[in-house]
Amino acid sequence: MISTIARMPRSPIRAIYEKAIQMDDVVFFCLGEPDFDTPPRVIDAAVDSLRRGETHYTPNAGLLPLREAIADSLRDYDGVAYDPAEEIAVTSGGMEALLLALMTVVEPGDEVILPDPSYTNYRDQIRICKGVPVYVPVREENGFQFDPADLKRAITGRTRAIMLNTPANPTGGVAPRALLERIAAIAAEHELYVLFDEVYKHLYYGAEPFFNIAAVPGMRERTLVVDSCSKTYAMTGWRVGWLAGPAEVVGCVPKLQENMCSCVPAFVQRGAICALRTASADIERMNAAYRARRDCIVQGVNAIPGLSARTPEGAFYLFVNITRTGLTSEAFASRLLDEAHVALSPGSAFGPSGEGYVRISYASSIDVLNEGVRRMAAFMEKLRA
Ligand SMILES: Cc1ncc(COP(=O)(O)O)c(C=O)c1O
Repeated sequence: MISTIARMPRSPIRAIYEKAIQMDDVVFFCLGEPDFDTPPRVIDAAVDSLRRGETHYTPNAGLLPLREAIADSLRDYDGVAYDPAEEIAVTSGGMEALLLALMTVVEPGDEVILPDPSYTNYRDQIRICKGVPVYVPVREENGFQFDPADLKRAITGRTRAIMLNTPANPTGGVAPRALLERIAAIAAEHELYVLFDEVYKHLYYGAEPFFNIAAVPGMRERTLVVDSCSKTYAMTGWRVGWLAGPAEVVGCVPKLQENMCSCVPAFVQRGAICALRTASADIERMNAAYRARRDCIVQGVNAIPGLSARTPEGAFYLFVNITRTGLTSEAFASRLLDEAHVALSPGSAFGPSGEGYVRISYASSIDVLNEGVRRMAAFMEKLRA
């Protein structure tokens, strides 16, 4: 009998990417990762660790000094206090933190609410845990945020958790504090966990201070905070992230980790400590660049007749409305790659409500962005002719 895993579809984003890398002269707007290199100081910290002989297993939950650095950062940036010994566990990227959190709280058949569209791995990870993903639309007219009425309607006796991601992939939307407070009230009323994915929290350009739902009184006990070094410090390939939350959940992570990869390599954890403790100027430098790129791509895309995009407040994604072309998002992405050599992601990959959109990752230089926009404008002109 074929398993759930064997039935899982491959991501259409991968299909575009794999085709694009076989082609010449492609502008890549499809990858969700920083184009910057990891700050050299962080690399030195990892190399020094290896030279010191830190080539052995670490505790399953991660090195205590790293958990302390994470706790300090959560206290200072999010305003939420965690006990590094009991309430923080180090994982292989935010991805593993999400999976281990879901493995801990989801029983077979439990429903998990997720934004539609959202990060494609949410849906697949819920399925891996034998849960049922329940999409709730986040619409452009609501800034790609949940409407609390939709959320309430989606809750059943089997609902176990709500997944939130702010700033969001693929829309760049940021959940305002007032909305998070309303969602918190719903989660508390129905006794739900909230998986709060804040991997893009430092890539935030809004006026209001960033807000973590765990800071709402009473929510710390039901919020599972997921974050990583990947996007903030340009460390995607290092594979280091964390889960912070109540000890009853986080305390299960070492048991799972023991049976999966045992621990994140010690030298990687040393690099992460260096990043968390010393890289605030690097965050500012990279953010200033992302902000300028955002302004460039927003302006460029909105100047193309037939396309429109709302200004994202965070992450490095632009979610472009293509409904006026009459093409499906997969057809648009596929033709744009074939005819204009621009690789981007079809919105339908992120959920049914992503149809009618494509995602541009603008983690590229201004020159690359301008070239991509030029090619998209020429493609659209041909389409209209
Ligand atoms: C919303 C979101 N969450 C989590 C991740 C996982 O990132 P990592 O495992 O590199 O920390 C990503 C990566 O693209 C993402 O977009």
